[in-house]
Amino acid sequence: MCRHAARPDTHQYPSNRGRQSFRDSVAGFYARRFGVEVDPVAEIIPCLGAKEAIANLNLAFLDPGDVALASDPGYPVYTTGPLLAGAEPVPMPLVPELGFQPDLDAIPADVARRARLMYLNYPNNPTGGVIEDDFFARAVDFARRHDVIVVHDNAYSEITYDGYRAPSFLATPGAKEVGLEVFSLSKTYNMTGWRSGAVVGNADLVSAFWQLKTNIDSGMFEALQEASVAALDSNQDSVARMCAIYQRRRDVLVDALRAMGLAVEPPKGAIYVWARVPEGETSASFTERVLEEAAVVVSPGSAYGRAGEGFVRMSLTLADDRLDEAAERIARLVAG
Ligand SMILES: Cc1ncc(COP(=O)(O)O)c(C=O)c1O
Repeated sequence: MCRHAARPDTHQYPSNRGRQSFRDSVAGFYARRFGVEVDPVAEIIPCLGAKEAIANLNLAFLDPGDVALASDPGYPVYTTGPLLAGAEPVPMPLVPELGFQPDLDAIPADVARRARLMYLNYPNNPTGGVIEDDFFARAVDFARRHDVIVVHDNAYSEITYDGYRAPSFLATPGAKEVGLEVFSLSKTYNMTGWRSGAVVGNADLVSAFWQLKTNIDSGMFEALQEASVAALDSNQDSVARMCAIYQRRRDVLVDALRAMGLAVEPPKGAIYVWARVPEGETSASFTERVLEEAAVVVSPGSAYGRAGEGFVRMSLTLADDRLDEAAERIARLVAG
């Protein structure tokens, strides 16, 4: 980044299409990592992080009266984005017994008829759910039958544990006909503040998104595009080291929560532990008690949607000693 920021030619207005080097690098990553061939010219466009892309995709594809199907619990922009576009977000509850996948057969016919977008996200925030079956194929089938655009938020594809490797949605046969994937460098390379990502997939959809963005922002700082190339083309050892750190923290936290009698499964992906609150508590009451009496901040599951009620989310992005201390304080609280 420093080297490229020192070059005067990276300070001009960028093109919204992105530098050739950036698009080639994303295409190379998709081929190496996911076995997915994408055309760097027509099927990739840079975005200023996944959040920007998710918010703007609503403006690109939704009209008032349309429905956007949103994973519940889910990243909040899956519901606020459609509202900003004048459309209606309809929650798709993620079912714990289905590995935190939605039951697509439970979507009412009138909702499916009005649906234009469907937001999916695996590895999942906040539940830690991952794809281990043919769910993406069923999502493609649903999208074809109901003329829905699937947007798969792939922000956590590289943050996985226990040897699990997350697939790209685009590796599913037919996926590129019906959808897009939003890829982000934020979590994989600890670049959250840099705002680098890419929208990858169906060429017509990518083009529509590009058209919208030419009227909203002026592209990604070119030095950042080159820094992103360096990250994507690197040997990925740093990512493996980081996942090992998160996995150690996950195990510490899961062991501590289980010792307290809380029901929790060790997640195979993402950077959160999703735990059921003790009997008799709600998400909000347990969150408040943990804050007031143990001075530890956890997130109430209900903040991510109605289906998150009864859970709290705990983040693994805390130094080991702080995480240990938080676990101990919560344990004392539950014991008392
Ligand atoms: C599921 C999910 N999608 C997207 C984002 C945002 O990613 P970015 O930093 O690329 O905007 C987050 C950040 O927490 C997230 O959890």
